[in-house]
Amino acid sequence: MAHHKPHAVCVPFPAQGHINPILKLAKILHSKGFHITFVNTEFNHQRLLKSQGFDSLNCHQSFRFETIPDGLPPSENLDATQDIPSLCKSTSETCLEPFKALLYKLNDSTTTPPVSCIVSDGGMSFTLDAADELGIPIVLFWTASACAVLAYAHYTTFLQKGIVPLKDAADLTNGYLDIVVDCIPSMKGMRLKDMPTLLRVTDANDILFNFSIQIITRAKRASAIIINTFDELEYDVLKELSSIYPLVYPIGPLHAITNSMENKDLKTLGSSLWKEETKCIEWLDSKQPNSVIYVNFGSIAVMTPQQLVEFSWGLANSNQSFLWVIRPDLVSGDSRILEPEFLESTKNTGLLAEWCPQEKVLNHPSVGGFLTHSGWNSTLESISSGVPMICWPFFSDQQTNCWYSCNKWGIGMEIEGDVNRKRVENLVKTLMVEEKGKEMREMASVWKQKAQSNVSTSLMNIDNLINQVLLRS
Ligand code: UDX
Repeated sequence: MAHHKPHAVCVPFPAQGHINPILKLAKILHSKGFHITFVNTEFNHQRLLKSQGFDSLNCHQSFRFETIPDGLPPSENLDATQDIPSLCKSTSETCLEPFKALLYKLNDSTTTPPVSCIVSDGGMSFTLDAADELGIPIVLFWTASACAVLAYAHYTTFLQKGIVPLKDAADLTNGYLDIVVDCIPSMKGMRLKDMPTLLRVTDANDILFNFSIQIITRAKRASAIIINTFDELEYDVLKELSSIYPLVYPIGPLHAITNSMENKDLKTLGSSLWKEETKCIEWLDSKQPNSVIYVNFGSIAVMTPQQLVEFSWGLANSNQSFLWVIRPDLVSGDSRILEPEFLESTKNTGLLAEWCPQEKVLNHPSVGGFLTHSGWNSTLESISSGVPMICWPFFSDQQTNCWYSCNKWGIGMEIEGDVNRKRVENLVKTLMVEEKGKEMREMASVWKQKAQSNVSTSLMNIDNLINQVLLRS
């Protein structure tokens, strides 16, 4: 009886690192009896269809995809991440009306149960107004780590204390970012440079700075907050967050939960916006355990051609096997060209790809280390696979995740300062062949066990979320 099902409308922020975890949660809610409407932007839905090779993703009667416009001018390039500040501005200014129209359309439909709750990305906070209008519960999903969310919640404290905005651009390089920020009780010892970077502004009207303050403040209106993390990993931070937001549910690692699910139709429904190259797995099959360093900088980071060259020679000179994923839009400008000498010298040790099935790669026994930008999904996937990291944080929450990986969890080493080939070479060797790397791998496998043993608590939190919030009428 489709009409008696609860109906959750799930709304990710339109970027890869947000779509992945929200789609996973949507699958879990579906397995618990929910009818799901998953709302993509039109642009990302086109990308998803292209990368998955389908004409439609609506293959399941009670798991449907719908789209709304993102408010940006049309873009031809389906292989590139859209500009994040523009997306933040356009979604917050233009998405509410089409979203409400969609909700009313769903409620008018005779084949779909009435919308009973919204599960929205914290970055799509216009959904709060729609939930108010319909009088239904809304849960905000922060796809970053709990430590990053807590730091965002303190952006206004930094503003009130005059720590930000910066006096001028010189503060970015003159040591000012090294000041220790002691106003967050559970984050003692962290420096301004370890906070999510969106506060490194000289103008308090900066789009991303204001956007962050706006969404984190509006989050107080949500019925509950959910985070893709687990209790043991971020205990103190989660406790402190609960004093700001009354209902906070840690529900991760979500991929560890969905991997154990049975519904085959939905299990194979992917969320990669680029086509995954599966040849990586065969290549990894031919390698020794823990012998390969996996290199991937996520879906948003952009580097200069010079940084690409430094990374390439650092990897080559380390003499370690590597799998390096270079997204089509990873390098600024048009130049993604690696030097022929590098390609020649690594033809037996390295494999290059444009996009890979990352969870499978990280779980492969041949992978012994991960050179990462410290995006939260990548960090959590690495933790759950027991793989230690070299961190090259690029922006936003990645600096905070990097600090925790290196200083709290004992499973990361940061590339400090500018990337240069010698630093990369040294860190890769340390991680892959030296005693310190071995110790980090052991620590990572302790965290892997903890991630696994926390799955039952996170599943219980999901059940509580459903019963205490989503099914509330
Ligand atoms: C950014 C932020 O850093 C992140 O913390 C925030 O919550 C979302 O935006 P992004 O650059 O996309 O994210 O990195 P990350 O959070 O690591 O997410 C990337 C996702 O894409 C991961 O789930 C990863 O498994 C997947 N991926 C990446 C692939 O499947 N294949 C690839 O080749 C690369």
